[in-house]
Amino acid sequence: MKVLGIMGSPRRHSNTEILLDSALAGVKEMGVEVEKVAVSELKIHPCMEIYACRKEGICSIKDDMQWLYGKLLEADHILFASPMFFYGLTSQAKAIVDRCQALWVRKHILGMGTENSRIRRGVFISVGATQGEKLFDGAVLTVKYFFDAVGVKYAGDLLIRGIEYEAQIRDHAMALQDAFRLGQQLVCPDTTQ
Ligand SMILES: Cc1cc2nc3c(=O)[nH]c(=O)nc-3n(C[C@H](O)[C@H](O)[C@H](O)COP(=O)(O)O)c2cc1C
Repeated sequence: MKVLGIMGSPRRHSNTEILLDSALAGVKEMGVEVEKVAVSELKIHPCMEIYACRKEGICSIKDDMQWLYGKLLEADHILFASPMFFYGLTSQAKAIVDRCQALWVRKHILGMGTENSRIRRGVFISVGATQGEKLFDGAVLTVKYFFDAVGVKYAGDLLIRGIEYEAQIRDHAMALQDAFRLGQQLVCPDTTQ
C-alpha cells in the first residue's frame, strides 16, 4: 500500500507542509509507505482547454503532470494539502486539479475506469490566516470534484483557521496531533485514538 501526499504551498517547510508531514507520519506509523510531492518542485502548466484529452483521455501538454498522472492513479490513498489563497487553492495546486480534466473525461465521457476494484480514499488539509466561517467552502468543493475525477472518495479533512506566519502551526500541538490522526485514519479508518 502507498499513500501520495501532495504539498500545494509554494512556501516550503511552512504550515501546509508541517501539517502534511504530520499526517504522513501518521500513515507511516501504520506501516504504510508514503511519497511526498511538492508542487513548487514541479513544472505544471495550467490547463489550456485544448480538449485533446477528449479523444483518449490523455492530456497533450508534455510536462511534469504526465508523471503525476501515474502517481495519482497508482496511489492507494491521497493526502492533498494547500493553504487558502483568496478563498481557494494555490494556483500551483489548482493547476494540478484543472489538468485532471483529462481524468474526468476518461471517467465521465469515455467511460474508462480510473481505478480498479480498490477503494481509494483522499483527505484534504488546509490552513488560512483568517477566521471566516466560509473560508474553506470553495476549496472543499473543488477538492471533492478533483478526488472524483481521480477516482478517490473524499474521506475527510483538517481545516485550520488563524494561521498566517511561516511555520506558525508548530505552536499548535493539537493541530499537529489531529493531522497525525488523520493520516492514521486515512489508511486505517477504524483508528480512533
Ligand atoms: C496570495 C495569498 C492569498 C491568501 N489568501 C488568503 C485567504 O483568502 N484567506 C485566508 O484566510 N488566508 C489567506 N492567505 C494566508 C495563507 O493562507 C496563510 O498565510 C497560510 O498559513 C499559508 O500557509 P503556508 O505557510 O503553508 O504557505 C493568503 C496568502 C497569500 C500569500
